[in-house]
Amino acid sequence: MGAENDIQEDSRHDLYSYANPGEMRVTHVALDLDVSFEDRRLAGSALLLIDRPAADANRLIVDTRNLEIQHVEARDARGDFSRTAFELGDSDPILGTPLTISVPTGAGAVRVHYATSTGASGLQWLDPPQTSGKRHPFLFTQSQAIHARSWIPLQDSPGVRVTYTATIRTPPELRAVMGAELTPVSNGEPAGEHRFVMEQAIPPYLIALAVGDLIFEPMSERTGVWAEPAVVQRAAEEFEDTESMMQAVESLYGSYRWGRYDLLVLPPSFPFGGMENPRLTFATPTILAGDKSLVSLVAHELAHSWSGNLVTNATWRDFWLNEGFTVYVENRIQEAVFGRERALMEATLEVQELEVELARLKPADQVLHVDLSGRDPDEGFTTVPYIKGMLFLLSLEAAAGRPAFDAFLRSYFEHFAFQSITTEDFLKYLEETLLKENPAIAERVAIAEWISEPGLPAEFPRPASDAFSKVREEARRWSAGEAAAADIAAREWVTQQWLHFLRALPEDLDEARLRELDTVFGFSRSGNSEILHQWLLIAVRNEFADANGELEHFLMTVGRRKFLKPLYEELVKTPEGLVRARKIYAKAKAGYHPIAAATIEDILREVEQ
Ligand code: BES
Ligand code: ZN
Repeated sequence: MGAENDIQEDSRHDLYSYANPGEMRVTHVALDLDVSFEDRRLAGSALLLIDRPAADANRLIVDTRNLEIQHVEARDARGDFSRTAFELGDSDPILGTPLTISVPTGAGAVRVHYATSTGASGLQWLDPPQTSGKRHPFLFTQSQAIHARSWIPLQDSPGVRVTYTATIRTPPELRAVMGAELTPVSNGEPAGEHRFVMEQAIPPYLIALAVGDLIFEPMSERTGVWAEPAVVQRAAEEFEDTESMMQAVESLYGSYRWGRYDLLVLPPSFPFGGMENPRLTFATPTILAGDKSLVSLVAHELAHSWSGNLVTNATWRDFWLNEGFTVYVENRIQEAVFGRERALMEATLEVQELEVELARLKPADQVLHVDLSGRDPDEGFTTVPYIKGMLFLLSLEAAAGRPAFDAFLRSYFEHFAFQSITTEDFLKYLEETLLKENPAIAERVAIAEWISEPGLPAEFPRPASDAFSKVREEARRWSAGEAAAADIAAREWVTQQWLHFLRALPEDLDEARLRELDTVFGFSRSGNSEILHQWLLIAVRNEFADANGELEHFLMTVGRRKFLKPLYEELVKTPEGLVRARKIYAKAKAGYHPIAAATIEDILREVEQ
């Protein structure tokens, strides 16, 4: 093997998996699971079909985390199963536990009989009070980045793509949904049994399941919403532009390859805004603003059907290939469906967030092709892969011109479809296509600097919005005491302008000034989660006691980590705030997802030291 090949192999190595796909590779998973809400566990089996890249390999290593492994069988060429030896290795707090299975010569599959544990990091079990209907329990999975292993024993690396089938048994009054195709129930099948197929090979972090009192509302021929009965209609109205969004991406980058595109609206404890599970995006209910103002999240998760799900980061170091491309495509969708001004406002807000974060990140974490060694990927994710990634693509677009860049992206998705690729693969492809056709691009865009250096290059095309200039002027007039809140010309402002306004206010504001704003604009009562969140941040920063009740209510009901984290971080800055943060967390904890709870515990622990 030549030196160049070594580097290639090395960059493909996944720090976050114990698996041995180079020797033996899982290609298909057949799940058979019982969902028990009483025991809060999934129990059953996973049949793993294997390929043997190394002919003499005799062991399969898969990832697990806190799984109870009951027994393992190997399937011989005749299709007969017999017990085979297995061993659980030492546990690592981040990676979990390797499971090594002896695979006899000639065996093409193994079947692992197992159950999940109560603390499974990829599962959240909700009691009825945490749902909108309050009558039934709810379960959902969140496998990205490395939590699939906490509910399925598999080679949990984005470089190991699998197809899958699943049979899921639930209490008969509940329904299971997955990021896969639902097989219609045939007569005579027992109630509560749900079957799914995913025929396209996907990375394991996209395997997803939810169980609850769910019903479906169609939006177009191929799009619809799953949600609890009280939410589904509202969600279908909020997301009614989904079909137009799909058509917008298809006309830019080629056809949608996954059949249906549905959304599942989860209970509010869902720790993310959205998760791009194939065929079925999982979404927080906090984007149901009533006026479609927060649907860029749908654009984002839909965009992942190309960037991420079709062309996938091979390792978590290459995460920017998923998210940077997706934010870029998201913005193109917003532009196509809602117009250039809306897209520019959203991009401007995003760049603002990036700049705030860059100011406090250490240089090594400001790099697109980031070094993650030793860290839990759940804690390593920042706006850098997202927004800096998007800005890099915007610079390429500006240098190439839109038509050439659109054609490049279209061919990129086609070329790498259903593959998991590294940053090096992308750079090589860029060089061989766009840069070869137009060498001037490489002179205008500092590609190596974007990929490997901290911060932002001195020059890049910066999104800016005219609609924000007026907002800044009004914020300035009010801040300078030149205008009262009631005189601010805000009648026509949209959500993005309100967010910009709130961010443009001075850091320090006294009680009277905050009360004036709240009386005139009613921020504390805002039904828009982003506006309310921005307002609560200001309230906490200025110890504005009027908002205490709202703050506590928000922290008790919403589990979205992007909202919780900054609020707790702001709270713990003062001794009184820290006491409140601890009190609220103690009460709220049981309702938080394990990922969100771990984040908040880190924040509270750090102050103690
Ligand atoms: N794939 C991500 C969510 C994710 C990333 C989960 C890493 C676990 C690990 C998803 O597409 C995403 O980026 N969601 C964002 C919303 C988006 C509009 C920026 C979120 O959840 O806030
Ligand atoms: Zn994303």
